Amino acid sequence: MVRKLFRNKIFVFLMTAAAAAFVFLQFIPQDEALANPPVVREPNWDSAETRALAKRACFDCHSNETDWPWYARVQPMSMMMQQDIAAARSLMNFSEWKDVTFITADLIEKKLRAGEMPLPEYVLMHPDAKLTDAEIDALVAGLKETFAASSNQVVDSSEATQDAN
Ligand code: HEC
Repeated sequence: MVRKLFRNKIFVFLMTAAAAAFVFLQFIPQDEALANPPVVREPNWDSAETRALAKRACFDCHSNETDWPWYARVQPMSMMMQQDIAAARSLMNFSEWKDVTFITADLIEKKLRAGEMPLPEYVLMHPDAKLTDAEIDALVAGLKETFAASSNQVVDSSEATQDAN
C-alpha cells in the first residue's frame, strides 16, 4: 500500500513540494519578532502572590516577558505563536499596563472558569501553567484588588461607539 503510494508520481511530487516549502519557511527572519519589547509599566500589584500566579499562567502571552520555547523558532509554529502573542498583548499586557481598559476581573474569571485562558494548547505544553480552582479564586481576588489600586477605568466598548455618534 505504502509502496504503491510512493510509485505514484503525483504523491511523490506533492511530498517533495511540502518538504521544500517547510525548508523554505525556515529562512524567514525572526530574530526581531522574537525579541521582547521592554517592560514599561506593570499594574499596581496588590501582592507578590497575585503577580506570581499571573506570571506563571499569563505572562508568556500577556506581557513583554515571553519565554519563547525552542519550537518558537520552527515555522510555521513560530508565525502562529507570534500572532497569538501579538493579539494577547494588544488586549491585555501586564508590561504595558493601561488605566483605561475593557478587561475586568469578572471577564478574566469567566475566561479562567471556562478553561479558555490560558489557551488549552499552551497548557498542554506548559502543564505548570494550569491553575487549580483555589488558584483561580486567589488570582481573581488579587486582580480585583490590583485593578482597583491601579485606578482602572473600565470602558464598555459599546458605550465608546455610542459616544462617537
Ligand atoms: C498561550 C497564550 C496565552 C496565555 C498563556 C494566556 N492568554 Fe489570554 N489571550 C490569548 C489570546 C491569543 C487572546 C486573544 C484571542 C482570544 O480571545 O482567544 C487572549 C485574550 C484574553 C482575554 C480577552 C478575552 C476577550 O474576550 O476579549 C483575557 C481576559 C485573557 N486573555 C486573560 C488571560 C489570563 C488571565 C491569562 C492567565 C491566567 C491568560 N489570558 C493567558 C493568549 C493567551
